[in-house]
Amino acid sequence: MAKLAVCLALVKLGESLDNGLSQAPPMGYNTWNDLGCKNMNEANIKAVANTLVDSGLRDAGFVYLNLDDCWMAPNRDASGRLQGNPETFPTGMKALADYIHSKGLKFGIYSDRGSATCQGLPASLGSEELDAQTFAEWDVDYLKHDNCHSSTGPNDKDQLFKEFGLMRDGLNATGRPIFYSVCGGGDNKPWSDIKYYASDPRGGGALANSWRISSDVVEWQSCQLAYLADAELTEYGSNGGFNDPDMLLGSSDGSARSLTSVRSRSQFNLWAILMAPLMIGANIRELDAYDLATYTNKEVIAVNQDPMRKQGRLIVMNKVLVPQISTSIWARELASGNVALLFMNNLRKSSSIVCGSDCWSELPFEAGAALDVRDLWSFGPAETASAVAGQDYQVDLSSGNGKSSLLIFSARIIV
Ligand code: GAL
Repeated sequence: MAKLAVCLALVKLGESLDNGLSQAPPMGYNTWNDLGCKNMNEANIKAVANTLVDSGLRDAGFVYLNLDDCWMAPNRDASGRLQGNPETFPTGMKALADYIHSKGLKFGIYSDRGSATCQGLPASLGSEELDAQTFAEWDVDYLKHDNCHSSTGPNDKDQLFKEFGLMRDGLNATGRPIFYSVCGGGDNKPWSDIKYYASDPRGGGALANSWRISSDVVEWQSCQLAYLADAELTEYGSNGGFNDPDMLLGSSDGSARSLTSVRSRSQFNLWAILMAPLMIGANIRELDAYDLATYTNKEVIAVNQDPMRKQGRLIVMNKVLVPQISTSIWARELASGNVALLFMNNLRKSSSIVCGSDCWSELPFEAGAALDVRDLWSFGPAETASAVAGQDYQVDLSSGNGKSSLLIFSARIIV
């Protein structure tokens, strides 16, 4: 019997990621939407590192500097190892890691489970253990592992969980805590449902620290698909890792992909409620004051990072035919006993959103309790600064098209 228990424990160990890095969603920056392939080089990465420090973003929590596709040379070296592209990264990846670490940041890198990355460069199929070792030797802190160029297609579950699993085991074997972020999809088609990365028993927290649950967020439509997919996966996000609805798009000029200012802030609000990784995907070196204010809002970040680690959920949806055209209310319970509520207006006009009985019944407050309401963007009492649990509470959103309001409801302490 004892023998069986030991065996079962060992099997379990081999099948899950054991690096202690699922305590809070990772925060940082990823190169893909900013530098793409064309501008991926050492000088730009160092400039990003300096900007993360000088702008205050590092101190706000954005510590990961993650290199996406196109850091690697077109060929492995003589010993079969991945190597940085000598033209664009002349001093090599370890020296770059040292620079990034000297700035108080963490170093992230990218590979792929297939025979090539999405941009056709060397990837990890058949070299998982060696690549994991190489990354550990470079002092890598985070690996985004993609899903292109697999031999049996992007959605062959047996194959993909097996191959992503090989990299998980390779990372485990290094003994270095490396955040493992699985980037599913591969074909990147918005109609491909990849929610199974969260729900399949071989996926989720058994596989990785985070897993993509939708295709790339490149504009508002794909952003909506991502958060609506995430709304169906609440239970998995609270279970050993994080659902990943992809990167944050800012609204600054000069970014390859962006949202309107209103929507970029709503994406940040939603990502806080959804306990999503916060990876900035904008031209960080030219972030405007508005985007900087968005990403350094400590109160919204605190919701995202809440130590209770309970993903928030969609509690009210009033749609006009499709959920993309709707008003909605989202809730996240916090360790303090407070609740963050997000009121979201996706109609094409101003609208009032009411937390009525269908909303209160989803919340942990006792009927009749007196509540204080704080607005996380005005850093003070909300326009309607108090509420009574169970009684209609109305939020007026003066414009639609993705405008939202993020409020904290807390039970008033009676003295
Ligand atoms: C995609 C992935 C993007 C980016 C790109 C790089 O598959 O979803 O986030 O990593 O590949 O080629």
